Amino acid sequence: MRSEIILLLTSSRLEVIRLEKLMIRGGEQLSGHVTISGAKNSAVALIPAAILANSAVYLENLPDIKDVHLLAEILEELGAKIELSNGTMLIDPAEMRPKHLPNGKVKELRASYYLMGALLGKFGEAYVGLPGGCNLGSRPVDQHIKGFEGLGATVKNESGALHLQADKLVGNRIFLDVVSVGATINIMLAAAGAKGQTIIENAAKEPEIIDVATLLNSMGVKITGVGTDIIKIQGSDQLTGCRHSIIPDRIEAGTYMIFAAATNGDITVDNVIPKHLESITAKLTELGALVTEMDDSIRVIGQSYYKPVDIKTHTYPGFPTDLQQPFSVLLTHAEGTSMITENIFSSRFRHVDELRRMGANIRVEGRNAIFEGPASLQGASVKMTDLRAGAALVTAALSAEGISQISEIHHIDRGYENLEKKLVKLGAKVWRVFEE
Ligand code: EPZ
Repeated sequence: MRSEIILLLTSSRLEVIRLEKLMIRGGEQLSGHVTISGAKNSAVALIPAAILANSAVYLENLPDIKDVHLLAEILEELGAKIELSNGTMLIDPAEMRPKHLPNGKVKELRASYYLMGALLGKFGEAYVGLPGGCNLGSRPVDQHIKGFEGLGATVKNESGALHLQADKLVGNRIFLDVVSVGATINIMLAAAGAKGQTIIENAAKEPEIIDVATLLNSMGVKITGVGTDIIKIQGSDQLTGCRHSIIPDRIEAGTYMIFAAATNGDITVDNVIPKHLESITAKLTELGALVTEMDDSIRVIGQSYYKPVDIKTHTYPGFPTDLQQPFSVLLTHAEGTSMITENIFSSRFRHVDELRRMGANIRVEGRNAIFEGPASLQGASVKMTDLRAGAALVTAALSAEGISQISEIHHIDRGYENLEKKLVKLGAKVWRVFEE
């Protein structure tokens, strides 16, 4: 369901503008257990990957978020049979036909670019509008294109859509000039349908890439080396359906760990893979929070005093860019000067203006944000500019004095399952309002 419906006022019709806002009364110490959902950034790659099979694929532990629903609707447009019940999605691509997707839903999410690799691998052709998604600065897809061309496809930009065509895809050696999660996965998808072996050099190592490889291997592709920077893929034209359970969302887990630290609370995140969260655990500990790792859960106990820390975002296993925005709120509470260096995206500090509105003392110089703390945050009327900026504002509002009113919340609905429900269970005072 769209969280925000904006209609027009015309001379003949009075139409309604319906906006949803998130209200948060800060100051509660959050405590208890929260179960982490399946990983968004795996799910959005696994759903397109499933179409490479010639029979039904079952994806379990899917998060109930907008991006997942959008992708399912796009696959239905392409003729796939989709059924979703209790977090398991059946994707039966047997009746799928190639179709041009220049506009519409593909423009609403970044991950629609995985349809390029998957359709190319399956049909030898794809026509997909250049994707939307969070505005984090320039987000080129040149490395994806380099990979597709390396496998023998021609790629043309036709009025804002990429048209990919190959009589025959043939495995090749592809060196990525930039370590890219999206390009690594997209090339794996196309290579799954190519003849012979593809080798991706300088590949990304994120856990979501391993998750996609696990599904493809269960379907009959032979992939080795995932988790290292050299991935080898032996394609096949006889891929079969299977069942796959999605890994836990390390970014959602990290966000709740940050909520615990920000509210001086005591939260245990359950259903996680602690190894995926090592960089967060390390930085929370450096800050002064108490973190205890268990087999598949992590407990974070927040403190009232934090030391300043510096963070540099990196590809996995470095500190993830997706968590620097929510983590930045903790640096407003730390006593002294902290710095975040954003190495992945050129413009991922758009939440800073909103944090300043709440009383934070932050200045941005190029790729660095410098924090002078501690600041006593005050509730305010603020606006989400992207998904993780949304997580940052929720973190700030939870730890601020008074009520915050957060707008543009469709951003956070793209990536966090049952956010309010989970927060309320932890003791937060949070609710949605609708304005017409
Ligand atoms: C994925 O984006 C995630 N999105 C992002 O999650 C995440 O922030 C990012 O990886 C980094 O971890 C999905 O998985 C759907 P990249 P992606 O290609 O694949 C440059 C979230 O909040 N680059 O690894 O788009 C690029 O500009 C989000 O959940 C090229 O130059 O990221 C960036 O600087 C948002 N050419 C860097 O590489 C290319 O062809 C890394 O981008 C591709 C990328």
